[in-house]
Amino acid sequence: MTASPTLSPRATACGKVIVTGEHSVVYGYPALAAAIPSSLELTAEPGPADQPVHLRIPAWDIDVALDPDTDHPVARAALEVLGFSDGPLRGWTIQGQTTLPSRAGLGSSAALTVALARLCLGQDADLATVVDASLAGERVFHGQPSGIDSEVAARGGLLRYVKGAEVEAIPLRHPLSFVVVPSGKPRSTADQVAKVRARHDRFPMIIRPVLDALGALVDRSISAIESNDLDHLGELFNIAHPLLASLDVSSWILDELCDAARNCGARGAKLTGAGGGGCILCLPQDDPAALCSALQDRGHAPVRIDLEPSS
Ligand code: MEV
Repeated sequence: MTASPTLSPRATACGKVIVTGEHSVVYGYPALAAAIPSSLELTAEPGPADQPVHLRIPAWDIDVALDPDTDHPVARAALEVLGFSDGPLRGWTIQGQTTLPSRAGLGSSAALTVALARLCLGQDADLATVVDASLAGERVFHGQPSGIDSEVAARGGLLRYVKGAEVEAIPLRHPLSFVVVPSGKPRSTADQVAKVRARHDRFPMIIRPVLDALGALVDRSISAIESNDLDHLGELFNIAHPLLASLDVSSWILDELCDAARNCGARGAKLTGAGGGGCILCLPQDDPAALCSALQDRGHAPVRIDLEPSS
């Protein structure tokens, strides 16, 4: 008799911010993303043996039974991950703890699918297998994602990503801080990606050069980070935001937030992730705390991301 599948007691995964290259990455251009470390922790314990696996993440208002007949998107995505990873379908309760907001462009769904894969496969499971399992769930949420969110959620660090190519870890020689500002407006990645596709198909001769420019920004951003030329990186952020807006993925809230961040002293600001709502990403001057407090004074809720030099 084969043993019934089991789960590890604990697994974690990272959130992410896309530094540059969102949307153009879907069309095969590079993108640069940074992990938000240990953003989600899942713990698993045995539950009633005859009941479907139950998933609870109070911070995201998730409380679902992974019933094979469900049409709940989170449950369907989770079932895809468990199915891919040969995980159990009954007899477990999974609890999640997180400080990451959901549906805000910070990789919450990839964090969930990566952590679920790790509950099934082990926290130290082979990264490529974890990413493939995560993508099985991500396709339920996002249709045809580029895969960048799953790679960052699984690997952590600062990554240059091209769809279908080997992921490149970018070593950091200097500390690097970003400030994320949530708009408070949720959005759907799949809808935003579909909007870009529609505009691309209607105006290919106009939109292709925009995607070329967004792609070209990525390796310039990496060079600016490598040489610690943060004014240059900030300028690239300020170029990226209107290019993304021309793809129809900004909104008045995001435009206003970017202006507010620049007026509060940010070197640069751009939307991050799919856009529409979600968050902006700012590059502060040398003191990120000063930018955070200026943004707080204006009623925003900035979050610092501090990346340490690679050891
Ligand atoms: C979402 O985090 C980033 C997008 O480029 C979509 C994707 O890469 O799948 C908008």
